[in-house]
Amino acid sequence: MKYKIENILEDLESQGWSVQNNFFSTELTQSLKQTLSTIRQQGLLKQAGIGRNNNFHIEQSIRSDEISWFDESNLTESQKIFLEHAEELKQEINKRFYMGLNEFEVHFALYSENSFYKRHLDQHKNQDTRVITFICYLNENWHKEDGGELKLYLNNGEIITVLPDAGTVVCFLSAEFEHEVLPAKRERASLTGWFRKRE
Ligand code: OGA
Ligand code: MN
Repeated sequence: MKYKIENILEDLESQGWSVQNNFFSTELTQSLKQTLSTIRQQGLLKQAGIGRNNNFHIEQSIRSDEISWFDESNLTESQKIFLEHAEELKQEINKRFYMGLNEFEVHFALYSENSFYKRHLDQHKNQDTRVITFICYLNENWHKEDGGELKLYLNNGEIITVLPDAGTVVCFLSAEFEHEVLPAKRERASLTGWFRKRE
């Protein structure tokens, strides 16, 4: 894991974003997917919205995924392991860049067939508490024909395309890069998290 984290740090330093295939083991992504199935069976997946607090609303023309935030008081072993890795990454980022990240928030996301998330920035208006976005995919054998790619819009006009294949991790500066999830042609499962500074 150490050398993989080092790869992310180097990419963040040189370009502000990183894509790492096979960051997490199949064993871990499979058991996270199992946790997601349980959460779904319990009816804990909710239609995702946009905006925050008073501004929060469901806007299915912008995003049509369903999400479930981690419940700190009720975590499976795989969720705990995932959080430990995120914590390690957070510490290494702080050591290297003095970013002062002190929180990590994360939710499962499930895109049913034809679901998408239009081009957006992860920071809420007038708030810079979300510093780094961290996404992990849980889908075995994802192919180009399955759609659902993440498009990351770089500031030089270049566009990075990522297949949401199990174990792949994407990490980027939340304030810098607009991104988009193209319509998925099969169910698409992921975890999206943010390293934050306290408000
Ligand atoms: C998000 C998001 C991208 C993805 O949840 O904010 O942009 O590839 N997710 O799942
Ligand atoms: Mn996003």
